[in-house]
Amino acid sequence: MEMKEFNKTKRQLSVMGVGTWELSSNREENVRAIRYAVDNGINFIDTAEMYGTEPVVKESIEGYDREKLFIASKVWPTHFKYDDVINACENSLKNLGTDYLDLYQLHWPSKSIPIKETMRAMEKLVEDGKIRHIGISNFSLEETKEAQAAMSKYEISSNQVEYSIITRDIEKSGLFDYCKDNGIAVIAYSPLSHGKIFSNTALLSDLKKVAERYSATPAQVSLSWLLHKENTFPIPKASNMEHMKEDIAAAALDLSREDLSLLSDLEEKYYTEPISKQHKKSEDKINNYNFKEEKTD
Ligand SMILES: NC(=O)c1ccc[n+]([C@@H]2O[C@H](COP(=O)([O-])OP(=O)(O)OC[C@H]3O[C@@H](n4cnc5c(N)ncnc54)[C@H](OP(=O)(O)O)[C@@H]3O)[C@@H](O)[C@H]2O)c1
Repeated sequence: MEMKEFNKTKRQLSVMGVGTWELSSNREENVRAIRYAVDNGINFIDTAEMYGTEPVVKESIEGYDREKLFIASKVWPTHFKYDDVINACENSLKNLGTDYLDLYQLHWPSKSIPIKETMRAMEKLVEDGKIRHIGISNFSLEETKEAQAAMSKYEISSNQVEYSIITRDIEKSGLFDYCKDNGIAVIAYSPLSHGKIFSNTALLSDLKKVAERYSATPAQVSLSWLLHKENTFPIPKASNMEHMKEDIAAAALDLSREDLSLLSDLEEKYYTEPISKQHKKSEDKINNYNFKEEKTD
């Protein structure tokens, strides 16, 4: 698996990571799939306190050299007060069976807790060696600038946002270029549009036309299109071996310039609104999420 610099952190990450939101209920298979990924060169695993999958990641990374892995988790906005951030991190460390996180991300922006207070806690976690890098997620261009301005000692390493062949809002908003120009890595979540590419038969048929030229699949050309973008790390989620094998093999595909351009044109036909737009409409729900009651784990 090819490696790529995680922008200003200078850390070497596999060009693709693995996501762990809404893994299937077959834990043994989830673990087997993630271990297959690590055995085949993936060193970047993304989770979050909110997913309830940190224990699955813990089980999946047992026995591997921790220093070779890049483990990312996230704190939910209801935990953005200073002490809550520190406690949430401790909890994630325990769930993951590790004494540091490579990347700790603010899962969504909060409207109720000042970003300065949250960032003070994040910087304290870096100083204490509990986390190595600070990231954000679902932050717009303006929110990204505000988050960076709220920090006093460190810089934002990454912004995790929805980005796929049919959801390219971050290119239009200027966020993609801003991140590139400011050394912030883009982590592309829902790179398969949260599975929506598989339920749109017209899109699937257009993807297949390109995929056939490489003896590949629609999932693989969709992922490869993202892998051809600079400063971008897609994190597909695969609950089973079959999907994981297929997704990882996408890293070996080299699409022609013509096919990349054909794939780029698909968004116009099949544009899909990002999840974040729907969530923005229910921001109060995010900020007041009752974590303990609703947690799935
Ligand atoms: N920061 C955020 O707010 C945020 C939001 C969303 C997602 N994320 C992160 O991004 C990760 C990925 O996004 P996502 O889970 O929303 O969606 P995704 O990776 O775009 O798509 C996952 C869906 O595609 C299926 N799939 C995967 N590989 C496949 C293949 N080769 N053939 C057919 N189906 C395949 C999966 O099925 P199976 O599960 O059955 O394998 C699942 O239904 C998450 O797990 C999470 O880590 C972050």
